[in-house]
Amino acid sequence: MSQPILEVHNIKKTFGKGKYKITAVDDVSFQIMPGEVLGLVGESGSGKSTIAKLITHLQKVDEGNIFFDGKDISNIKGKACLEVYKEMQMVFQDPVGSFNPRMKIGEAIKETLCHLCYNPKAMSKAHMKEAIVSLLKQVGLKSEYANKYPHQLSGGECQRAAIARAIAVHPKLLICDEATSALDVSAQAQIIELLMELEKSLDMAILFISHDLALVSCICDRICVLYKGQEVESGETKGIIEAPKHPYTKKLLSSVLQVDIGE
Ligand SMILES: Nc1ncnc2c1ncn2[C@@H]1O[C@H](COP(=O)(O)OP(=O)(O)O)[C@@H](O)[C@H]1O
Ligand SMILES: [Mg+2]
Repeated sequence: MSQPILEVHNIKKTFGKGKYKITAVDDVSFQIMPGEVLGLVGESGSGKSTIAKLITHLQKVDEGNIFFDGKDISNIKGKACLEVYKEMQMVFQDPVGSFNPRMKIGEAIKETLCHLCYNPKAMSKAHMKEAIVSLLKQVGLKSEYANKYPHQLSGGECQRAAIARAIAVHPKLLICDEATSALDVSAQAQIIELLMELEKSLDMAILFISHDLALVSCICDRICVLYKGQEVESGETKGIIEAPKHPYTKKLLSSVLQVDIGE
């Protein structure tokens, strides 16, 4: 049997001191198998983004361990970090804000390719252009988008471009933190469809972070429910939706049902 691509063991993160101390992530554990989609769901402030930041080393864990592809990455530094980030990428909520506004989309993708994949000196200009166009095509954008600035794109188009940049390095794990939350309903559905296609065609695992249990339950194999930094329930999506055990999951579910009935 294959080993998990990501294992999170009892991670903990606090911010502030004394009476201002907040435990953002409190003893959370989960794992993701290669090619699997795991949903991390919980209301705003439940610690979802902090977990994403701990996995991607934007912040350091106070306690616990994170294993990527069998290797403990909790305390890696420098070059070892770079090696891991070739295989782990992130897509954020605000696609326009995730790009440098002065850089064209093609340049932004090129920067990632040069930084993490290829020696730019060993690659011809034509070859680089071909790689960029092919990535844009994979996310449903025409080649002319390479010459546009982020603000010239719609939210959905810009999120596609952000996904193109993320898959440029052939990641084994893609972390999507509220990646569709800022989009309108139809753009949201298109991005979800794209992510599901890419998950299959690239055989990539996805950690799909969202406050929206309905959305998460549509696309994830398993779900981990967070409440105030703690994991209150986790398991196969079907089991959680049909027979939630924890009162908080029941509350999340009933709010989804109320919205559906109200429509
Ligand atoms: N850098 C930080 N400094 C202080 N508190 C933080 C920081 N980042 C997150 N928090 C706090 O940690 C808690 C969890 O935040 P976050 O992980 O962003 O939640 P979510 O993504 O689920 O909305 C919140 O109470 C938030 O205010
Ligand atoms: Mg968040």
